Amino acid sequence: MQLISDPSEMRRWSRAHHASGKTIGLVPTMGYLHEGHLRLIDNVRGQTDLVVVSVFVNPTQFGPGEDFLTYPRDLERDRALIRDRGGHCVFVPDTSDMYRSDPMVTLVAGPLADHLCGPGRPGHFDGVLTIVAKLFNVVEPDVAVFGRKDAQQARIITCMVQDLDFPIQVVVAPTVRERDRVAMSSRNAYLSPQERLAAGAIPRSLAAAHDLYRQGNNESASLIAAIRRVFGEESLIDIEYVAAVDPETLAPVLTADADTVVALAVRVGKARLIDNIVLGAGVDADEVVG
Ligand code: PAJ
Repeated sequence: MQLISDPSEMRRWSRAHHASGKTIGLVPTMGYLHEGHLRLIDNVRGQTDLVVVSVFVNPTQFGPGEDFLTYPRDLERDRALIRDRGGHCVFVPDTSDMYRSDPMVTLVAGPLADHLCGPGRPGHFDGVLTIVAKLFNVVEPDVAVFGRKDAQQARIITCMVQDLDFPIQVVVAPTVRERDRVAMSSRNAYLSPQERLAAGAIPRSLAAAHDLYRQGNNESASLIAAIRRVFGEESLIDIEYVAAVDPETLAPVLTADADTVVALAVRVGKARLIDNIVLGAGVDADEVVG
């Protein structure tokens, strides 16, 4: 397995393999890998000849006061996990190589960032789009895979690829959950054992909304109220938002249907955690580890 940090070398590697007829898949990550990331590798390994995993904690998607400096990092462990999972190349650029000087031009996510996490994290999705576009330009993958756990991110990137004509197929892979259905996240590392236990309310709340919908209630307000009720019993969790949105525009819907995305962000101790379900599928449609 190749380890590359220089963007020019990365592009040369990809172009050499493309020239010999190989297809390339890219799994962009910020590292501190867990099974959710590793299943993205499995997913793309079935679709392309070679898999590149990028590991880069992207400063431009963190706001002031967010956890850029404390974001968990362990490159040695990540490398071993990627190698064992059959990755062919790890791309680990330095910040100074990705952002050479004060950049003058960056991407803007537009109205899709007006909803869900956008208002609470101004500029976040602009930073995500800018780094993902840069990674696409450096790695030149044929396929790139993203997790549905970050549904808004996946939607905004899908639209970027369409609207800016990137010749890349975007795959959105299912959320991977732990045994108690809490979605895997690098930020779960911030949780104390007590907080980790409390986080179980997140999938329970989404399951409550799903149950209500299956019983025939399709009013978004009722579904959201059901979620809030579950957190009402949980003193360690503060809700940032709960919303039922259209899967394409991400705008709130009054009446939900099977395609509606029910999404939330909460604070548990130092961690800000997000999760979502597609209402017709529910929590149990996702992948569970262990
Ligand atoms: P990161 O949070 O490291 O996530 C990398 C990829 O893993 C994303 O596509 C994310 O949706 C996916 N992922 C995370 N947890 C998952 C889970 N439990 N199940 C399935 N997929 C999961 O998302 C980012 O990094 C960054 O914003 C990035 C796209 C790399 C740009 O910097």
